[in-house]
Amino acid sequence: MTNQVLIFDTTLRDGEQSPGATMTHAEKLEIAALLDEMGVDIIEAGFPIASEGDFAAVTEIAKNAKNSVICGLSRANFKDIDRCWEAVKHAKAPRIHTFIGTSPLHRAIPNLTQDEMAERIHDCVTHARNLCDNVQWSSMDATRTEEDFLCRTVEIAIKAGATTINIPDTVGYTAPRESADLIKMLIDRVPGADDVIFATHCHNDLGMATANSLAAVEGGARQIECTINGLGERAGNTALEEVVMALKVRNDIMPWSTKIDTTKIMNISRRVASVSGFAVQFNKAIVGKNAFAHESGIHQDGMLKNAETFEIMRPTDVGLSETNLVMGKHSGRAALRSKLEELGYDLGDNELMDVFVRFKELADRKKEVFEDDLIALMHSNATEDDTLQLKSLKVACGTEGPQTADMVMLVEGSEQSVSTTGDGPVDATFSAVKEIYPHRARLQLYQVHAVTEGTDAQATVSVRMEEDGRIATGQSSDTDTVVASAKAYINALNRLIVRRTKSEPGYDTKGVSYKDAG
Ligand code: KIV
Ligand code: ZN
Repeated sequence: MTNQVLIFDTTLRDGEQSPGATMTHAEKLEIAALLDEMGVDIIEAGFPIASEGDFAAVTEIAKNAKNSVICGLSRANFKDIDRCWEAVKHAKAPRIHTFIGTSPLHRAIPNLTQDEMAERIHDCVTHARNLCDNVQWSSMDATRTEEDFLCRTVEIAIKAGATTINIPDTVGYTAPRESADLIKMLIDRVPGADDVIFATHCHNDLGMATANSLAAVEGGARQIECTINGLGERAGNTALEEVVMALKVRNDIMPWSTKIDTTKIMNISRRVASVSGFAVQFNKAIVGKNAFAHESGIHQDGMLKNAETFEIMRPTDVGLSETNLVMGKHSGRAALRSKLEELGYDLGDNELMDVFVRFKELADRKKEVFEDDLIALMHSNATEDDTLQLKSLKVACGTEGPQTADMVMLVEGSEQSVSTTGDGPVDATFSAVKEIYPHRARLQLYQVHAVTEGTDAQATVSVRMEEDGRIATGQSSDTDTVVASAKAYINALNRLIVRRTKSEPGYDTKGVSYKDAG
């Protein structure tokens, strides 16, 4: 058995499936390119039958991939599998991933007996294998499936030609020792197990996804399924950065390696946080803002004498630069380009010009521009293609309400203005947006963070909206909290508009129900 562990990233499938984490087509392509570049072995690019949008994204990611295997998800039926193949077949190395829920609870939904399910697995894996020589089988909810029946499903899948067998902990129920034992039991008991790769796919409902994944490797799994920042349904999936860094830092007791270039971790983490609208918690392992910050006197003193006193890995190992170098209004375009390159942004001339203009505007308002400010600037998501764009906003506040907002917005290119009042500046601003662009979407979450310290710090605002069961999150930053709020709200609405157009009846990306898995 090899000591190489394959990294299977499902940020664009399981991650994107998380309510509110919708990404646009262009964002998915960008994330896929970053995953490919950082050495991810297999990218699960989407669920091609879920929507036209998913199909188009998987197809294009397949065409563009340079190194990674490109995988698409399909339920266990021929229609899904055919659609998946149509999308992934363009890749240099395609993979079809097909699954069915095998636990008693999941078997009850399509109302299949064990024999009927066994037959379905045989037929679907055989069908997938006739299309593609790289086929992954998943027994969904494996950790709550009876051992004998799980062995039976795995054996059938192997005999039908599956090359990877995934054992998902779909509801985040297992614990490390159990996770290791389950994989070991399958390898010991199932005929043909030595000829395939076993994968572990954990969810984090009890906060054990990373531990369970690493334990599964101890039990014999050689593929970890994970997402950037642990993005994913409910409490998320195993975080890629955590398993990869754990294997690197504790290689003395976990002697398995991955191909991941860990210096690319911070950049992709920031990109995923920005495009998904799911901010990374400050104390998140590896990629949180505080993961390498040392504030207490004792820590700072120790760090200055010897960094190893309080650091088990170097910030540079994950792509953080040693200094949070400051830039100011006198910094030129070349300095900005070089700083952005250091932060992992490789911009074309036009893009750089656009960022430079915004950087100068920011530097005029803010004495010092820190790395975090530049990152926030890069992640302010508005584009010229957006249906709704903010042109100007003037808000009058005071101890005596109501507050007023004068707003000018472009709606599909046509300028519209309004003056509204509200209970506070943010309320007045959101009412202005609603008056210019009436909608039924409800505000579910409104969150403000300061990007850096100081009263001139930029604020990053996250807004989550819901409309007819569809959820979208928007984010924006500005030194003016109300302007950041307006942009974040508009960003969320733009995302809902994209989602409205991309969903097909019955096959909404978030709504693809596992109920139909049978
Ligand atoms: O969690 C899960 O079981 C899944 C399967 C579709 C692999 O995501
Ligand atoms: Zn999952």
